[in-house]
Amino acid sequence: MRAVVLVGGFGTRLRPLTLATPKQMLPIVDRPMIERVIGSLAAHGVSEAVLSLGYRPDAFVDAYPTGRCAGVDLHYAVEPEPLDTAGAVRFAARSAGIDETFVVVNGDVLTDLDVSILWKLHHERGAEGTIALTPVDDPSRYGVVDTDDDGRVRAFIEKPPPGTAPTNWINAGTYVLEPSVVDRIDDGRKVSIERETFPAMVDDARLYAVGSEAYWVDAGTPSTYLQVQLDLIDGVRGDPEVGLHPSAQVADGADVTHSVVMAGASVEAGAVVRDAVVMPGARVAAGARVTASLVGPGATVGAGAIVDELSVLGDDVVVEPAAELHAVHMP
Ligand code: GDD
Ligand code: MG
Repeated sequence: MRAVVLVGGFGTRLRPLTLATPKQMLPIVDRPMIERVIGSLAAHGVSEAVLSLGYRPDAFVDAYPTGRCAGVDLHYAVEPEPLDTAGAVRFAARSAGIDETFVVVNGDVLTDLDVSILWKLHHERGAEGTIALTPVDDPSRYGVVDTDDDGRVRAFIEKPPPGTAPTNWINAGTYVLEPSVVDRIDDGRKVSIERETFPAMVDDARLYAVGSEAYWVDAGTPSTYLQVQLDLIDGVRGDPEVGLHPSAQVADGADVTHSVVMAGASVEAGAVVRDAVVMPGARVAAGARVTASLVGPGATVGAGAIVDELSVLGDDVVVEPAAELHAVHMP
């Protein structure tokens, strides 16, 4: 199986962390998000991935100079300008010479979904496209997918107004597509697969869906980027991962609970870090308190400062001693 992995977005909801680093290169506990996404595709039979790049492509190329990532061969497709999700699929598929059934995934989704099951059902049904679905509490943030009893998609509604969705099953961002889908997408302009291509395929009765209750989180917001990491250390997806990197320094008398402290980060005496992520090289100074927040790479939380309520500190930000940040994104 070959997969197009969409990783070209600006990651605006994760700013300021994505000002310097594209979303899928942000670390999830101990390795970049993209390695987890590709690793789980590999576990289910994907052997080659086309990275659909736009924003900061250099970050990916520099990280995987040999063109291998999580045991998978990479092909880089760099868009000259953002083409949106379908435009990106067309550009990547053409650039890699894809002319058989292929997989597409949104590169910010962490999931235990088995794409080979989707692949099998896609072929059994003779579908032109097959979408994985997952149930969520608030479907208005996603693409809502209504199906009939045979799994045929009756309606695809991207981000419907709250309270109007016909179902809470949403597009999980994993598709199996025939190459004919690529022919449907106009060349050289922005096209959204969710707002244009899928609705057209619904009209032609060629789009199917398969629901799954497997672990699934779109890590593209501060709260979900935090949640996926706490889920891993909690063992929600298998053996618990270790949140404290071997090169992190936690002083005697510091209280680090239910948190991830990444490489080279330090937490000084009397500081409290709870339900939080402290990114590489960041420093939480003596007596500071960081709760349910993201401390960016190289950032400093000054002595006695308070950072809580899903605050997000960007790269190298300095929070003054004794300052209080509640739900603040800085800068
Ligand atoms: N190459 C490229 N070019 N990639 C892009 C572009 C582009 O112009 N725009 C977005 N992407 C990439 C993003 O980097 C991300 O990996 C993926 O496409 C999806 O974009 P998001 O911005 O994360 O979309 P979303 O989370 O709001 O909604 C999408 O995902 C949901 C599931 O997580 C939609 O597909 C929804 O229907 C879906 O429910
Ligand atoms: Mg997303």
